[in-house]
Amino acid sequence: MKFVLIGAGQRGMIYAKYAYKKGHEIAAVAETDPAKREIAASEFGIPAERCYETGAALLAAPCMGEAAIIATMDRDHYSEAIPAMEKGYHLLLEKPISPDPAETLAIEKAAERTGRQITVCHVLRYSPFFREIRRVIAEGRIGRVITIQHNENIGNFHIAHSFVRGNWRRSDLSSPLIMQKSCHDMDLLVWLTGSKCSSVASFGDLTYFRKENAPEGAALRCCDCPLKDGCRFSAYRSYLPLAGNWPATVLTDDQSEEGLLEAIRTGPYGRCVYHCDNNVCDHQVTILKFENGITATFNLSGFTNLMTRTMKIMGEDGEIRASEAENVIEVTRFAGNSTEKSESEIIRPEQSTSGHSGGDSGIVEDFLNMLEGRDSVSATEIHESVESHMMACAAEEARLTGSVVSLADFRRKIEGTTKA
Ligand SMILES: NC(=O)c1ccc[n+]([C@@H]2O[C@H](COP(=O)([O-])OP(=O)(O)OC[C@H]3O[C@@H](n4cnc5c(N)ncnc54)[C@H](O)[C@@H]3O)[C@@H](O)[C@H]2O)c1
Repeated sequence: MKFVLIGAGQRGMIYAKYAYKKGHEIAAVAETDPAKREIAASEFGIPAERCYETGAALLAAPCMGEAAIIATMDRDHYSEAIPAMEKGYHLLLEKPISPDPAETLAIEKAAERTGRQITVCHVLRYSPFFREIRRVIAEGRIGRVITIQHNENIGNFHIAHSFVRGNWRRSDLSSPLIMQKSCHDMDLLVWLTGSKCSSVASFGDLTYFRKENAPEGAALRCCDCPLKDGCRFSAYRSYLPLAGNWPATVLTDDQSEEGLLEAIRTGPYGRCVYHCDNNVCDHQVTILKFENGITATFNLSGFTNLMTRTMKIMGEDGEIRASEAENVIEVTRFAGNSTEKSESEIIRPEQSTSGHSGGDSGIVEDFLNMLEGRDSVSATEIHESVESHMMACAAEEARLTGSVVSLADFRRKIEGTTKA
């Protein structure tokens, strides 16, 4: 199978390396950063004539394979996905499909029109951890699900890295926080409830990472800051000890101490977290009602120590408490009274070394299965994935307008404005 890679950044390289390791060819690459383009070319043996500066340039050339991996930034997906399908490529498309709901629906329509398949990178559906939770529900171990409490614990250092200093700090440049971080969570809720969402309310704000919360005397950059030794957000503390690993690898390809120091001195990740140009929320709570009557609360917060998802799923006959970081799923059947011993089981799903608890390799496997005809359709195909994006956009509208948003009304409104 031949792939083309559009966007050879963190995500694109993960998927391309996996496909390459499985014996597939990465026939061409498009990447604006010359250093990253060169790394991809040498890693996959791509000849210079098939290395392009932009996705647009690659897509102007004749079709070079069966599928395209699109892993550029959020707002580029729309301009690449439709031409790529028109050229003949099936797509492994990074989420968000697009931050704009009208563009998301247009991409879905283009897939129907061109007969191309899109697998959206909702990697969590492929992780053994979430698959196990779904299996427990499907087996009826807690009876019918009544309500869900879901938490996306972003992690305090992670919010500072990605959503204050980093690529996803501004909704106008990338996506609102709930879309960027949590279209995955919306997708998990659709998958676990087995239902579409009917209405949503949401509250949240950018409360902490603002200039008025900067300690007195803090400089605009860590390298100039007299407080850096005592600050937990100091870039020196956040990145230097992690040389060679995420998130230090995001700063520069040169992971030597000198390389990282230079990136901290001059790049975006050396900025004071209280003095960035970020505008996305640092916390957001969302309440959802599903068509089958299940209710859910979703708490998305940067004020957590761990970077993990935790869930409580409450059913007629019992509850599931799940902690992704601890790799523990506890299934408890309700007791008859407070002294009776309740029946409880601890499940520890198999663990994978691939990212997102095994989801990163799982999604490429799923895509390959679909391309090679072992499965007729992917588990995160476009029609399934659009639902989560409508939920995230509707939640953002609910937050901005202080209203309860009906998903059916929201979708009708967007369909009225759908791009061709
Ligand atoms: N599925 C997940 O769990 C997950 C996790 C993180 C990020 N993402 C998504 O993956 C996408 C990429 O994120 P990332 O962390 O890899 O970012 P990244 O910045 O590491 O990679 C994006 C790459 O695209 C390149 N690029 C930009 N414009 C281009 C163009 N016109 N043509 C070709 N290349 C271009 C950039 O130079 C960069 O190397 C984003 O949409 C992000 O939201 C998904």
